[in-house]
Amino acid sequence: MKENIKQSSFILACRGQKTNHTPIWLMRQIGRYMQEYRSVREKVSFLELCKSPELVCEVTTTAVRKINVDAAIIFADILLIVEPLGFKLSFDQGHGPQINPTYTQIKDLDSKLPPVQLAQALSYVGKAISLVKSELKTIPVIGFAGAPFTVASYMIEGKGSKSFDNTKKLMEQNPKAFSHLLNTLSESTIEYLSMQIDHGADAIQLFDSWIGAISERQYVTHVQAHVTNIIEQIKKRHPEIPVIYFGVNTSHLIEQMNQTKPDVLGVDFHLDISKVWDHLKCKSVQGNLDPIFLLCDKDVLKKETLRILQSVHGKPGHIFNLGHGILPQTPVQNVQYLVELVHQFHNP
Ligand code: CP3
Repeated sequence: MKENIKQSSFILACRGQKTNHTPIWLMRQIGRYMQEYRSVREKVSFLELCKSPELVCEVTTTAVRKINVDAAIIFADILLIVEPLGFKLSFDQGHGPQINPTYTQIKDLDSKLPPVQLAQALSYVGKAISLVKSELKTIPVIGFAGAPFTVASYMIEGKGSKSFDNTKKLMEQNPKAFSHLLNTLSESTIEYLSMQIDHGADAIQLFDSWIGAISERQYVTHVQAHVTNIIEQIKKRHPEIPVIYFGVNTSHLIEQMNQTKPDVLGVDFHLDISKVWDHLKCKSVQGNLDPIFLLCDKDVLKKETLRILQSVHGKPGHIFNLGHGILPQTPVQNVQYLVELVHQFHNP
């Protein structure tokens, strides 16, 4: 990692070190709320976009320049990994992601690529990271992957879900098949993230968006060891690279999530970020404005943003972010206003 990136506000905060201002980036900072993104999507499908390093570089860097955030996140999707595992992925208009066939038993993974080859099959993500790195010389680039439970839930349900019936049923009724899937995803994810780091990713985020659907006992029994393994392996291979671990609806899981030892704990909007930080004594925290505030009047947005900033007393190690991704109906001016507010904030 280059010295100027090491000294960037985002990387310093990931290390729990002091910065001139609180760094900010936003989950889904590239997406349908931005006209430039919609224009690109009029010409290509979502998957075509993901697989075109030049276009990915364009949308990734445009978002950073337009909203002036302190880190770029590479444009990709947590579900791309299912293709080299032998599953068909589609994003049909208005349907969200769909996966075919669904995973029900161990032999459904028979045609998967082994982890290193799987990472090669996803090297279009690495190529895009290299392009972004050559354009954004002073801004750190975040690579990412889905955490094993969240990706597994799509492979088992075949689509997004509210109650995760099939996922929880497989977990309890056929724990061998469930752990085979999570093992495969973990080993694949380690190689995939390593490939992203080898292409220049300066930090990594593991998205466990739907982990809140299971109980603390289920997390500890069926999931935690896999996440710990991914984080441990990444840190062993790439000690300089901070790992962020984020989930939604995690009030009952946050302590156990912290035990997987990420450098930065992502906090969703249900929790009080300052209480989590004080209680768990973690080095760095990321979060946690409810994305709905970006739909509100500016004075409402300002009040809540300042409340969050003041609650952590400008302690080194806070990375400002949302408690989940930006919604498509969000006005860009509100996002720009939020970034200004965070950058201008000086703790009394
Ligand atoms: O954050 C960023 O700006 C980087 C890009 C990014 C996308 N997806 C782009 C995307 C990231 C980090 C993701 C991660 C992702 N993908 C998650 C975890 C984060 C979260 O939001 O909880 C999940 C659960 C997915 C799976 C996924 N991909 C869903 C559920 C959808 C449909 C969403 C919808 O509203 O239609 C996608 C598609 C997707 N991924 C879009 C974008 C910009 C919208 C696609 C489009 O129509 O252009």
